[in-house]
Amino acid sequence: MVRAAQIFYLASSQFDVTLIMDYPFQVKTLGEYEAAYARAQADPEAFWADIAQHFTWKKPWDTVLDWEFTTPMVRWFDGAQLNITENCLDRHVTLYPARTALLWEPNDPTEASVEWSYQSLLERVEAFCHVLQARGIQKGDRVCIYMGMVPELAVAVLACARMGAIHSVIFGGFSAESIVDRVQDAQATAIITCDGAFRGAKSIPLKPIVDVALTQCASVHTVVVLQRTHEKVHIQAGRDIWWHEALPTHGKPFPAVAMEAEDPLFVLYTSGSTGKPKGVVHSCAGYMVWSTYTFVNVFQSSPGDVHFCTADIGWITGHSYIVYGPLAAGATTLLFEGVPNYPAPDRLWQITEKHQVQILYTAPTAIRALMACGVQYPDAYPMASLKVLGTVGEPINEEAWQWYHRHVGKEKSPIVDTWWQTETGGILISNLAGVTPAKPTFATLPLPGIQPVLVDEYGHELVGNDVSGNLCIRFPWPGMIRTTYGDHERCRQAYFSTYPGYYFTGDGCTRDAEGRYRITGRVDDVLNVSGHRIGTAEVENAINMHPKVVESAIVGYPHPIKGQGIYAYVILSSSCATALEEEALRAEILQEVSRHIGALAKPEKIQFVSGLPKTRSGKIMRRILRKIAEGAQDQLGDTTTLLDPTVVESILAGCL
Ligand code: WTA
Repeated sequence: MVRAAQIFYLASSQFDVTLIMDYPFQVKTLGEYEAAYARAQADPEAFWADIAQHFTWKKPWDTVLDWEFTTPMVRWFDGAQLNITENCLDRHVTLYPARTALLWEPNDPTEASVEWSYQSLLERVEAFCHVLQARGIQKGDRVCIYMGMVPELAVAVLACARMGAIHSVIFGGFSAESIVDRVQDAQATAIITCDGAFRGAKSIPLKPIVDVALTQCASVHTVVVLQRTHEKVHIQAGRDIWWHEALPTHGKPFPAVAMEAEDPLFVLYTSGSTGKPKGVVHSCAGYMVWSTYTFVNVFQSSPGDVHFCTADIGWITGHSYIVYGPLAAGATTLLFEGVPNYPAPDRLWQITEKHQVQILYTAPTAIRALMACGVQYPDAYPMASLKVLGTVGEPINEEAWQWYHRHVGKEKSPIVDTWWQTETGGILISNLAGVTPAKPTFATLPLPGIQPVLVDEYGHELVGNDVSGNLCIRFPWPGMIRTTYGDHERCRQAYFSTYPGYYFTGDGCTRDAEGRYRITGRVDDVLNVSGHRIGTAEVENAINMHPKVVESAIVGYPHPIKGQGIYAYVILSSSCATALEEEALRAEILQEVSRHIGALAKPEKIQFVSGLPKTRSGKIMRRILRKIAEGAQDQLGDTTTLLDPTVVESILAGCL
């Protein structure tokens, strides 16, 4: 262990100027990448201590790293105290208060956009801290945030972080029941929401959905409501307050609360292969260092660059690369309220031009959807400001990669294909823009500090190149998951038990002859639909709630736009008499899924079947169902181990 006294040479009360003027830990050449990678492997503690000293700490750390992957236990920068918002806001304000921290582009292009300086964002965050404090919110309390993509969403997130409350952002597309699950699991005491949200041609009634959820959320004593759509909503006296009415009338500072390095910063729920979504917990110091380090290196961002990440803050991509990473690095982050095809499929290109965006970070699904609309849209915009393009969330196919490269990047901007997960806190495998070589459909190389391992199904490491297996990581990195909220055993089970000694990602992966990584998709029962993670068990549970459903099985199948589509095989208690009745039932089942999870989990196809292929021990053989859904009937493989092989024929006869 390296003692902090040996490496901590900055006075803890001073702001470090170097990070902001230039990034001392930005690798700028292939050689520098290789040197950083080698050093992070040979002496991780010294490597990360060197990087961490460029942040603002209230107290230095005692130990850089303490870990084992059995329990698991991972602690970075133990003994240190900090507040991430001092790194995202205060230190920038000290140096250049007028620099733009946040740009906001509304859903409706005729509405004015918003531009907030670092000074202004800090003041808004401090004011909102006072609102929460006045309602009794304290360090360690859990606060759920269920809002549209308005700039106040970033304010709410940062205010929680500043006062030490643990935020749990819930994507605005989730149902009331999903809110209940998350609020109850974390025993949240407050919810921050909006009257409604604008998304494309739609307006989503957020507060009414929260109202439904709140009938089952006894722990919540406060609801703060931001006015956005101006729809009339119910305000329950004593519990609900309007954001604009609660704000203090005079600017009053709110000193950032000292957080221990390993105090939780936030919890973010994500789907796994079993049960309900789990609350992935990230800690203050490690997450800060990792989100900033990866932002600066992968995107090769320069201070003040305009960074446009099209994700929603309800997902990890929004946490790390809309809020924390870019702000800690002193960049200008652009929040977009709407969707890429509203009012027309040139919206992203128009925004890029309007705000002179340098870095555009989006998902393959969005690229494929826009690709289908035609090249005339991107081709009409020179987008000369663009320096770097990024993709995230799902594997990108070669055609989409080439289209993005040619029509958006005009063949001059490198594309970074960034692989990571909610649990990893930030990017783990990616090329570094213009620094390490790109290869279409390959995430390519691990970041310094990341030690990937491919294993076969028995957990044996696959050494050498030109191999395919399951992707694991063998050494901790600062931004990794610390626990699953309220249930540490679940964290061990989900990530550290399949292959003892390793963190298991759930992804399949190939390492090519040159040692570059290509992520091939989930190998567990998690689907990736439009870059959104959906657990098959969750969808099955929702479908099974319908009174006419006896049992169901969900699989993914290749979808030209969404990457994966959801195919549901459903057994009914009594068959439908007419096609019309079948159609009505399908609609009801979709409703059921929307009610329990959200519209994003609705199956594209529902096939009513009389039985499911099961082994003699009662396990559904999803492999067969996947092949049928893919249309690969000739590749069903061995069906003799099935309890009743005739089931397969009857499914094939009725497949969609
Ligand atoms: C998938 C999103 C291929 C992967 C940041 C992972 C990817 C899951 C890529 C995590 C990529 C993410 N190439 N697949 N560049 N990025 N994935 O938690 O299957 O929402 O396990 O985090 O998305 O999804 P999550």
